[in-house]
Amino acid sequence: METVPPLEQAVVQPLSKRLKHATREQHESVDRSIMALRPFDDLEGYARFLRVQQGFQQRCLPIYRHPRLADWISDLTLRCRYAAVVRDCQDLGVDAEQWQKADGAAPLREALPHLLGWLYVNEGSNLGAAFLFKRAAELGLSASHGARHLAPSDEGRGLHWRNFTQQLDAIPLPEADIAQVIGGAKEAFACVEALARPLVR
Ligand code: HEM
Repeated sequence: METVPPLEQAVVQPLSKRLKHATREQHESVDRSIMALRPFDDLEGYARFLRVQQGFQQRCLPIYRHPRLADWISDLTLRCRYAAVVRDCQDLGVDAEQWQKADGAAPLREALPHLLGWLYVNEGSNLGAAFLFKRAAELGLSASHGARHLAPSDEGRGLHWRNFTQQLDAIPLPEADIAQVIGGAKEAFACVEALARPLVR
């Protein structure tokens, strides 16, 4: 007689959903670290936040230029927000070339599943940026001055995210690689925290 598997085994969630679930605590912790910078109190606070964003986008650059990843995520290079964050820094006189310290953060690894985890975090941070973009507007910042990297893409924030998760969820990854993707995502969140920590005043 055939045995029926338990429900949690029978229904395998898409990778994007598993990542969201597995990194909920890390996201909450990053939210707190970012808000501890008091990024929307004044432009000085926003500059602290911008340093974190610039440091994170800089570390993610090799991911957006990765040819193997581009086979899976067709619009990968267009999704990169490094140039936008550099222009935001220039708008506000923040030194964009400086390599921001992230003491204790693990470096990027070569393995593709690991990089996919980082990519999920960076793309997700653009979805959550709707709220940050609104708060930045209260400081007089916009898609053409200081908050370019928080602006929605032309297709709209929701669709941009769905187009990403559809491509991510379609990657034929063996189950054994999933833990590496989740590990990469956790390290990416930890990197943002490590970038923010020295800047809290
Ligand atoms: C650089 C720091 C941040 C990173 C790396 C980050 C990362 C992410 C990720 C990966 C997601 C997607 C979750 C999913 O799978 O659906 C997300 C969504 C979200 N984030 Fe963040 N986040 C950051 C900062 C913040 C901050 C400071 C806030 C607000 C205080 C915030 C609010 C949100 C919200 C509201 C969503 C859900 C958006 C939606 O479902 O429409 N995030 N973020």
